[in-house]
Amino acid sequence: MKGAFAAASALAALIQHTSANNDVVTLVTKDDVYITEAVATLVVGNIPNPITGDVALWSAIMLDGEDFLQGVTQNGPAGSGYCDNLGKNWCNFAYTLVETLISGTTPEVGKAVPTTPGSLIKTHYKLNPTTTKWDQDLYINGTLVSSVSTSKGQKGNIFYVSIECSSGTCATAPAHKWEDISIVLSKADQSFGTTESWQFGATGGKMSTADSGKTWNFTTLSVPDTPVSVG
Ligand SMILES: *[C@@H]1O[C@H](CO)[C@@H](O)[C@H](O)[C@H]1NC(C)=O
Ligand SMILES: *[C@@H]1O[C@H](CO)[C@@H](O)[C@H](O)[C@H]1NC(C)=O
Repeated sequence: MKGAFAAASALAALIQHTSANNDVVTLVTKDDVYITEAVATLVVGNIPNPITGDVALWSAIMLDGEDFLQGVTQNGPAGSGYCDNLGKNWCNFAYTLVETLISGTTPEVGKAVPTTPGSLIKTHYKLNPTTTKWDQDLYINGTLVSSVSTSKGQKGNIFYVSIECSSGTCATAPAHKWEDISIVLSKADQSFGTTESWQFGATGGKMSTADSGKTWNFTTLSVPDTPVSVG
């Protein structure tokens, strides 16, 4: 039941990717440059009020084989999602939506762990040069709690920071921050960075590089209260 809900919601997330997600940050690689590593730390705010839909906050990397790496922080009604008895907390897990020929997409989900508002949820994505899989590790307040390793041989094409209403009628997603976002490319590309402002009224998130465009770091990105609905 839980699995079915999650799979359906994840599938919906992918199908609706252009319409239902509020993508605050979208950064696309060009030509033969790809993403090899990224890290982002969510300082999560209050839970939505009322709890009537599945509100998810995530960073993500879309890969060239269409697997979708997604460190998820989510809140929804009792009985939905991956955390039991979530109550007034957020549910956090490493997650990859794996693209398969036979069934479309299948989620691969790490351990789901609840946290309180104010917690720091860091997701680290790294293309492991030895296994050529993507190691995805999610930390709460500095402690590793959830991991998946997936997507052998795939390359990172797009980095996202987003807000999603994946099911139900979602209340406004409360304000939150993203600290220490860092993206590493396969080779330097000065054109990867942008000075344009981010979507949905987000402020900060100024990008800079100290190595001519291979590593891109952000200043803290602040996302205001954001209305979200299933598209
Ligand atoms: C994590 O740290 C924050 C800030 O100190 C605190 O408010 C929060 O309760 C902590 N979360 C957990 C799960 O320990
Ligand atoms: C960019 O961020 C990474 C990861 O947090 C960090 O190791 C590195 O020192 C940062 N670089 C600069 C120039 O601040």
